[in-house]
Amino acid sequence: MDTIIEKITGDSGHDRQVIQKAAAIIKKGGLVAFPTETVYGLGGDAFDADAASKIYAAKGRPSDNPLIVHISDISDLTELSDDVPEVVYTLAERFWPGPLTVIIKKNCRVPDTVTGGLDTVAVRLPDNETARKFIKASGTFIAAPSANLSGRPSPTSAEHVAEDLSGRIDMIIDGGDIDIGLESTIVDMTGDVPVLLRPGFVTAEMLCGAVGEVAYDPALMSGVDGEVRPKAPGMKYRHYAPKAEMTVVEGERGAVADKIKQLVRNDISQGRKAGIMVSEENKDFFCEGEMICLGSRTNPEEIARHLFGALREFDERGVDTIYAEAFPLEGIGYAVMNRLLKAAGQRVIKV
Ligand code: TXA
Ligand code: MG
Repeated sequence: MDTIIEKITGDSGHDRQVIQKAAAIIKKGGLVAFPTETVYGLGGDAFDADAASKIYAAKGRPSDNPLIVHISDISDLTELSDDVPEVVYTLAERFWPGPLTVIIKKNCRVPDTVTGGLDTVAVRLPDNETARKFIKASGTFIAAPSANLSGRPSPTSAEHVAEDLSGRIDMIIDGGDIDIGLESTIVDMTGDVPVLLRPGFVTAEMLCGAVGEVAYDPALMSGVDGEVRPKAPGMKYRHYAPKAEMTVVEGERGAVADKIKQLVRNDISQGRKAGIMVSEENKDFFCEGEMICLGSRTNPEEIARHLFGALREFDERGVDTIYAEAFPLEGIGYAVMNRLLKAAGQRVIKV
């Protein structure tokens, strides 16, 4: 299959045509990758069970790992669920459109293939104009996981999508580089207390500010092989995995740099190509190894935006090992560390 790639240029006539073309593909049961504010999504018609099967096949994704249904208006919630708790509207009004996904009870219109057999559905209203226009033009809702091959880092540019899915999907809408760079926060709204299943740009503190109380899925920061099974099926996989063996080094900034330097030297002396993933503040410590700087420790949003691209870049450079500096857990830093630890298979050295 040839994959059409069309750029969003800002010219309204041209962009309208691109969106119409994408919508026509969805109506015919095809697959379109599209930009959102978090990462690129791989979309198909959310009410078409066959489209969902195609998504799983294109990604090589296990079919027990449910998809997020993307809507373009808060009122769309009632099309997916007969039981939308009032508190979901409180969150929706505060954070939508935006990087927050809510889990609610599904109705019978939502195919089981979309929800991996669960009786709940994940719903999100993205804060990206192209995404919302595309959903509206499709005349349906768009089921979409991140537009990467299963196990690879989520795509934050159309080039990343093409790397993984060219020839496997009908079209990519190229909306340029992504702003946030980490997938949406997921919160389970089916119990008495909202439960955070996946951290993201909308933090637990922000959720608490809106609804008073939020619990954490106990599996959140534990290992993939941990005893606690995560409630979001996708969180149990070793996601975002670079090809190299990755280790997170945690501790006082100077000590972390010294430790990474020593590990890199050891790898090089044994003929291994070592990668270093650090902050702006630490980058001058290193004179050997393949270094990628994620941004300043004072700007965790910048670190988040560059993380997945850096993991892909290390794959391209063919490193055997990656050493990553740990980041503070405040704000989006918690989500950054959640993804870093997953990429590292929870391998941490404390200094
Ligand atoms: O930012 C995002 O959320 C991006 C963009 C494209 O919207 N999408 C995304 O989708 O990250 P995906 O498929 O890569 O991650 C969806 C996560 C998975 O961990 C999945 O297990 C979980 O959501 N999930 C989906 N439906 C669920 C449900 N009913 N109950 C619990 N977890 C669910
Ligand atoms: Mg994903």
